Amino acid sequence: MAGVDDIYRDEFRARVLAGRPRSLLEVGSGSGTFLRSLKGGIDRLAGIDPNADDVEALRAEGYEVVVGKAEALPFQDREFDVVVFSFTPHHIDDWVAALKEAMRVARHSIEILEVWYDDGIADQRVAHDYDRWCKEIDRRAGMVHNDTLSPGALLQPIIEGRGLTYDYACRRVSSMCNVDEIEGTGRARFTKAGDDAALKQGFEQIIKDARRHGMSEEGCVQMTIELGR
Ligand SMILES: C[S@@+](CC[C@H](N)C(=O)[O-])C[C@H]1O[C@@H](n2cnc3c(N)ncnc32)[C@H](O)[C@@H]1O
Repeated sequence: MAGVDDIYRDEFRARVLAGRPRSLLEVGSGSGTFLRSLKGGIDRLAGIDPNADDVEALRAEGYEVVVGKAEALPFQDREFDVVVFSFTPHHIDDWVAALKEAMRVARHSIEILEVWYDDGIADQRVAHDYDRWCKEIDRRAGMVHNDTLSPGALLQPIIEGRGLTYDYACRRVSSMCNVDEIEGTGRARFTKAGDDAALKQGFEQIIKDARRHGMSEEGCVQMTIELGR
């Protein structure tokens, strides 16, 4: 059975291709999960990622991918019909700079897929708490791994007075997590992170909440920012 991420990716792919772009840049292309799914339908398909190993592997497959960061894109103004971020915004250190750069190099639109939790629902709040807890461990290990960006936080840097049109859909397939499995992987994570007392206490509370309310899989935001060019 397809996982929720696969379902969200398929929906997002259809959304991106609906505008029939002839050129597309994926910022944060990583190991190519999303980029590969676009192969065949677009004249120029490009990616950029700071991970040199991932870039090298994709180049070996024939993809046009370069090492670099979202905050300083090595491309001309309006060079691509569409610029895409797929599950990448919360990995980027400076989202404001990244979105401004995307606005510069995109001609028609920017398409964003980001993790989203429906915080009005108890089992989603528990899942969001667990996500934040995992990211705290990643940050202590030196990784940029921020909280998910809400639709408003995604748009905030560019929204003032520009006459832009945007739309988004918050999508969620409701599916529960196995709390026993989460407890096992979570404990292994904080033991590896050095058995920190605050982390442990946070984790015990999350598991207690999960036993009471349940914990569910994440949803996603699929957003299009139209540039009208
Ligand atoms: C969760 S992965 C998503 C990969 C891919 N987009 C996908 O949908 O599978 C996040 C990616 O963002 C990349 N990344 C981290 N910081 C970045 C930055 N400042 N600019 C561009 N990409 C960045 C990471 O190297 C990683 O490949």
